[in-house]
Amino acid sequence: MPYPHFPKECTSALCRHLTPELYEELRDKKTRYGYTLDQLIRSGVDNPDSSIGVYAGDEESYTLFAPLLDPIIREYHRFDPRTQRHVSDMDPDHLQIDNPDPENAYILSTRIRVGRNLHCFPLGPNLARRERLIVECMVSDTLRTLDGELAGRYYPLTGLSEEDRKQLIEDHFLFKEGDRFLESAGLNRDWPEGRGIYHNDDKTFLVWVNEEDQLRIISMQPGGDIAQVFTRLSHAVTELQKRLTFAFDERLGYLTSCPTNLGTAMRASVHIRLPKLSKEMERFHAICDRHELQIRGIHGEHSESEEGIFDVSNRRRLGITEVEAVRQMAAGVRELIEAEKEI
Ligand code: ADP
Ligand code: ARG
Repeated sequence: MPYPHFPKECTSALCRHLTPELYEELRDKKTRYGYTLDQLIRSGVDNPDSSIGVYAGDEESYTLFAPLLDPIIREYHRFDPRTQRHVSDMDPDHLQIDNPDPENAYILSTRIRVGRNLHCFPLGPNLARRERLIVECMVSDTLRTLDGELAGRYYPLTGLSEEDRKQLIEDHFLFKEGDRFLESAGLNRDWPEGRGIYHNDDKTFLVWVNEEDQLRIISMQPGGDIAQVFTRLSHAVTELQKRLTFAFDERLGYLTSCPTNLGTAMRASVHIRLPKLSKEMERFHAICDRHELQIRGIHGEHSESEEGIFDVSNRRRLGITEVEAVRQMAAGVRELIEAEKEI
């Protein structure tokens, strides 16, 4: 492939960092699992409205294509992968935060997820059909050994009725289908085979299997008791870590297919109703920027807000511990609530 064409309105991290010279330098490189530069950048080339535009195919992508990926990582996470090291801290005893909305007036629900991938396999964009099935089998077998609050059932996507699937998406429990960014990255190959969802009866603990990452481990519940949600997640991750080896790098933390998820691979969010503040978007954005928070719509990434309800979460995931990321989110949410009250 020649140097890709990016339309002039393109602002993705990919088009800003991939110069023709860098393209020449990296174009013939291939990881041991056979992943190439063209595969790495395919999503951002097909979708010029990407914000980032790259997906790694395996652990080695992060070293072999570092001349392109390091600057993208540095810009997104404010973390220099050449000189810094990621530190993890998922100890709930270190969190020490109160519910920012004890009267239950603003926060509808809290959700914290982490992404994980198995050390012995390529990442999703480069996972062969057979490997994906093995990952599904290993992960669902492991999940079956969980007990207590984490005990639940694995539902393969192929076995879900269309009605149940839609309801799970509508209720914010299940991933959507047909994301064009994932499609171009090769993450939707052989869909829906090999994908599924595990959850407990209360749907407070869930695991997505073989979506953007091999595992998305999720803890969620109504209301704003962030500490309880984090404690459950931490417990689940500890249990799973005893049974599975996750891809982890001393510099980059937990390895994920999208560089925005590296490090903690954690997104801690609340669904919060801010009808007044949402009429003053400049102020809303200013508070979020100050706390490095990201605003999403009510159905997650690339969706719109409805009825003044927003999904507010930490933006950085690398170079910050899990505890710090959750604290940062909670502090920002507290300030958003203050602003809403004041208006
Ligand atoms: P991810 O969290 O993996 O980055 P998305 O942004 O696509 O993925 O969100 C996945 C689903 O989780 C969506 O249905 C979204 O509405 C839901 N969700 C996110 N945060 C919350 C929350 N705090 N409460 C309830 N549902 C949430
Ligand atoms: N690839 C998409 C883009 O560049 C999404 C990036 C971040 N989100 C994600 N789900 N990985 O806009």
